[in-house]
This record gives sequence, C-alpha cells and structure tokens, in this order.
Amino acid sequence: MSLKFDFSNLFEPNISGGLTDEDVKSVEEKVTSAVRNFVENTPDFAKLDRSWIDSVKSLEDWIINFDTVVVLGIGGSGLGNLALHYSLRPLNWNEMTREERNGYARVFVVDNVDPDLMSSVLDRIDPKTTLFNVISKSGSTAEVMATYSIARGILEAYGLDPREHMLITTDPEKGFLRKLVKEEGFRSLEVPPGVGGRFSVLTPVGLLSAMAEGIDIDELHEGAKDAFEKSMKENILENPAAMIALTHYLYLNKGKSISVMMAYSNRMIYLMDWYRQLWAESLGKRYNLKGEEVFTGQTPVKALGATDQHSQIQLYNEGPNDKVITFLRVENFDREIVIPETGRAELSYLARKKLSELLLAEQTGTEEALRENNRPNMRVTFDGLTPYNVGQFFAYYEAATAFMGYLLEINPFDQPGVELGKKITFALMGREGYTYEIKERSKKVIVE
Ligand code: PA5
Repeated sequence: MSLKFDFSNLFEPNISGGLTDEDVKSVEEKVTSAVRNFVENTPDFAKLDRSWIDSVKSLEDWIINFDTVVVLGIGGSGLGNLALHYSLRPLNWNEMTREERNGYARVFVVDNVDPDLMSSVLDRIDPKTTLFNVISKSGSTAEVMATYSIARGILEAYGLDPREHMLITTDPEKGFLRKLVKEEGFRSLEVPPGVGGRFSVLTPVGLLSAMAEGIDIDELHEGAKDAFEKSMKENILENPAAMIALTHYLYLNKGKSISVMMAYSNRMIYLMDWYRQLWAESLGKRYNLKGEEVFTGQTPVKALGATDQHSQIQLYNEGPNDKVITFLRVENFDREIVIPETGRAELSYLARKKLSELLLAEQTGTEEALRENNRPNMRVTFDGLTPYNVGQFFAYYEAATAFMGYLLEINPFDQPGVELGKKITFALMGREGYTYEIKERSKKVIVE
C-alpha cells in the first residue's frame, strides 16, 4: 500500500484564503521544470544504489553477534537512525530481552555531547557485547570525535580490541575517520560522496543499525524506489513530492513561514525530527543561486497528536495564520487496546472502543476544526508503520526538498550557515589552526 496524500484543505473553497487554480497555474510550469531537472540530473540520494544494501549485508554475520549497537553520529548521521528505530521497532524495544527481540540488537543513538545522555546509554550497555557504529561523513565532526574517543577509551579499559567493537561509516577517501580505518584496520562502510548528510538515511548511514535491529532494509528501499519513481512524474497530480513543494512554496509566498508536522503516533516523533532537519537546513538560506541576499526558508515545527492538542492547537486555530500544517496519520497500529466498560454512564461513549479509534477521531476533529478556522492543512496517511511506508516517506520528502530548493532558486544541498559556529567552537577548544576571540559586549544585559 502506498502513502496517501490529501491536499484538499489547502485549497479554496474548502478554506477561505486557500490556494486557487490560478495560484497553481502560476507555478505549475516551474514545478514541472523542477521535476524535469530531477529526472535529468537525478541526485545521488535518489539513485538508491544496490551497493548500499549489499555492503551492509556483507557484515550481517558479524553484526548478529552483538546484543547492542550504539550509533555515534549527529545531524544527518544520527537522525535517520533514530527515525528508523522509533518508527519501525516497538517503543519498548531496548527494554526487551534478546529473546523477545528475536536475537536482534538493541539500538541506541548518541547524537549529542550531553554527558547525561552519553552516561545514560553507557550505564545500560555491556561493552563486551556492544558494537559502536561511528558515523561521520566528513570524518571530523567534533561531537562525534568526542563520543568516539570516549567509546574507544571504554573498550580499551575493558581490555577489548576496538577494531572488534567499532564500525566506522565515513567518506570512502577523505577525513580523519577514513585515515583511522586505513591505519588501524577498522571495519568500515562508505557514505556515498554525492549524498549529503541529511539525505543519507537510505545509505549505509541508516541501513546498518536498521538491519541490526531486524528492520527489512530491502523493503525500505522498495518503498523509497517506488516513491522516487512517482516523484519523476511530470503530471503534478500524480506526484506527491511535487504537490508538497508546490503548495508549500505558494504558501510561503503568502506569508506562511512555518511548516508544522503533526503526527498522531508516538513512534513518528523522530520521523518529524528527521523532516525538521531536512526542511530547515536545506531551505533556510541567505543567498540564492545568483548570489543575491534572499533570507529564505520555512521554519519546520513538530507537534504530537493528541498530546499537543492540549498545548499547541489553541495557537494553531486562533493565533497568527502563518502556518501550513501536515498531519501524519496511521490507520493500523501494531498493537491495540480496547477501552473497557466501567459501568459509568459518563464514560459510555468510550466503552468498548479501540484506543486507536479515539486517536484517529482526535486527528479528524483537529483537522476539521482547523479547516473551519481557515487554517491550511494536509494529511499523509500510512496504512501502517512498515519499512515500505517509511521508505516512501523519506523519499517523498527528500524529493520535495529538492523541488523546493529549485523553486526558491537556492542550493538545498549545502549548509554554509553552520560553519561559523563550528569554527568558533574549535577555537574555544584550542584546535590547531583556529582562532577566535569572543568580543566584549559594548552593552551588557545580565539578570541573575
Ligand atoms: O546534513 C548535513 O550535512 C549535516 O547535518 C551533517 O549530517 C552533520 O553536520 C554531521 O556531519 P558529519 O556526518 O560530517 O559528521
């Protein structure tokens, strides 16, 4: 089954102030040419090279020995792993016994240098049965260098050979991690040079930890392949990615500077985080391709249904009309609970109903209320949380991001805006070749 996209509530007359046929006509040609460009110059992330799966599977016999895989990576080298873990494994996966996990590994992702986070993971693992998958495309990201050093120190303190407990995923040629592989003989996987970090979930970056925890990575690629194929259709009504880009571009031009993704599934929390990075880092740009200052982008925000109905929805319905909202809805949950009869008339409307029925009714209710308030919203329906569907989700949003980049006339594949902060951090940590002096503030406003 394919994902289903319902764009109706973005359009007039369903909401007043919504998109019109004229709006669509005004950009249709540009969207079609974005699609054509995608077909003619297909980005490497959409090629889904078979070697990405094969290289990961060639390590299967070794990986199966480990009870736990700890991913050490950040940004595009960690968020995809989290998204796969949460959306395709039960929420309590890491608390299950190995037997309950059918022998597959627990997966933790340390994607920050927060000592509380790292300690909480280290407290729960046995280094003897743990594999650390160190992931960094550049092979030099400070956060990952730090967590790698800590993990290596622990392995050595246990008298374990780091080469038997570490797998390095990095550029095939460049960077410190590749040097380490060559000089010390670590096992390694390659991040394809033409695939940027935040577009790399379907490469060995995301696939290794997914396979280790028993996710069907062939099915994941199958879903992505079908979605990329659809993303190449020139008829936009057959192309969900083109429709996402078209509608979000038009709304951005109408002042909707925020894109909210609201999933009615706790397992989708990190899928939304993955989307947040993709949309923010790819589209938030100071310069267009001509070098002119444009300060463009659309701020991605995540919300969880039904929880955030009691936190965000007041704002979305009655606050500034500056958002496009995308609902993610799952029709069939892996687990189900029936609400029991309590004998109280006040609760009879809930008795004997499925818990998912309530959640889905909440989604429908929220969507309908937003429509009544003329707040543009769309819905992506998953018939279930399966590798095929999640693969499709990744592919559609990667293609939509590429299309948005084309429409905004910016480069969606770079991230110059994160460089300065990195350089200052290196200088503060005393890295050779980096200097920076934090300037004395001429005006100080400090409150204690
Ligand atoms: O999308 C990107 O390129 C970034 O978010 C990177 O994934 C992130 O900075 C981590 O980089 P690296 O994989 O080189 O450690």
